[in-house]
Amino acid sequence: MSAARPGPTLPAVILRTDRLTLRAFTESDVDGVLRAMTDPETRRWIPLPEPGRTYTRADAEHWCLVQAPEARVTGDGQQWAAVETATGAFVGAFGLVHTRWRARLTEVGYWTVPEARRRGLATEAVVAVSRWALFDRRFERVELKAATGNTASRRVAVRSGFAFEGVERNAMPLHVGRTDLAVYSLIPADLV
Ligand SMILES: CC(C)(COP(=O)(O)OP(=O)(O)OC[C@H]1O[C@@H](n2cnc3c(N)ncnc32)[C@H](O)[C@@H]1OP(=O)(O)O)[C@@H](O)C(=O)NCCC(=O)NCCS
Repeated sequence: MSAARPGPTLPAVILRTDRLTLRAFTESDVDGVLRAMTDPETRRWIPLPEPGRTYTRADAEHWCLVQAPEARVTGDGQQWAAVETATGAFVGAFGLVHTRWRARLTEVGYWTVPEARRRGLATEAVVAVSRWALFDRRFERVELKAATGNTASRRVAVRSGFAFEGVERNAMPLHVGRTDLAVYSLIPADLV
């Protein structure tokens, strides 16, 4: 019996912006991941490791060493650790997720450590990741979904050139309750 063929995968690439290097996660990122994921603002909007459960160091290790690398292998997308190129400081996670290969659709997701916020870094990384998906990998659509109350994330979407499409009702669990999701997209025609 022949072995099952792997599904489509994205090539492992390093992306560079003016201030950031986006590379694969390593064990050196565990402290930064833990800091970001235990921050109240992150916990307000991202229900990890699962709704209602505290995020532990073991969860951060599992993310860096297993879950993030697996994103490529399973075909879900790709996860990058963003670091400031000048200092090496860990900034956050940016990823392509929920990739639907046949339809050439993917979704961008992200979070940053508290001390890196409000400097335009998330916008810079989202621009790089979404342009790479559309230009380099020839996806037809990159989606971005944010809780309707998540002003910062919705600003990142707009600042990155995404178009607001509408609201998915009651679409995602949070640690407390559920939320509607604001849906944005970027397509190749937006960039000509
Ligand atoms: C959302 C998040 C990634 C934004 O990161 P960031 O690096 O601060 O974003 P930027 O600096 O690129 O800011 C982009 C825009 O958002 C605005 N913004 C950032 N934080 C904000 C806040 N707390 N309230 C209101 N606006 C905010 C900025 O002013 C900027 O808008 P402007 O250019 O019109 O001034 C970060 O706040 C975060 O990690 N939040 C918790 C996790 C999360 O919500 N992830 C997204 C899930 S969909």
